[in-house]
Amino acid sequence: MLEATKNRETSVNRRRLLYLLGWGFIGAFLTTVFGATIRFFFPRTIFEPPTRYKIGYPFQYTSGVSERFKKQFRIWIVREVDRLYVIDAKCTHLGCTPNWLAAEGKFKCPCHGSGFTPDGLNIEGPAPRPLERFKATLDENGQIIVDAGIRFRGERGEWDKPGAFLKV
Ligand code: FES
Repeated sequence: MLEATKNRETSVNRRRLLYLLGWGFIGAFLTTVFGATIRFFFPRTIFEPPTRYKIGYPFQYTSGVSERFKKQFRIWIVREVDRLYVIDAKCTHLGCTPNWLAAEGKFKCPCHGSGFTPDGLNIEGPAPRPLERFKATLDENGQIIVDAGIRFRGERGEWDKPGAFLKV
């Protein structure tokens, strides 16, 4: 009698275990299918800023370094007596974003201490070359268009090329 009861309990436990395993399998299957469906409709994409953008008119920039678009586009706009150019705010050592230290008149990288003159020449620290410049042109209304897809490198003598600066 005791043996029969034990066998029946074992059988019930086995059935219950199979029942739970079955539902567990179905749950895992549905979760996988549901997750794949969600991922299909919302794929992982990288949203990068546009490479061409407008930054206003030359008269809006007074002499010196402007940080107006540093946060938005990671650039500085530098106006000299007769020219204006756009510097990529990316250190040429390992890519950190330097700070403009107006009181010292230089860019200083917080990562490893590289320093650059206002026109982007590397003067201290490990940065191996000057900061790069982006192409700057004017549209039909006289507004400055920056093309971050086209770069000019000082160590290659490219800073005097057309597009590397605007005459103002
Ligand atoms: S990343 Fe600027 S000094 Fe190293």
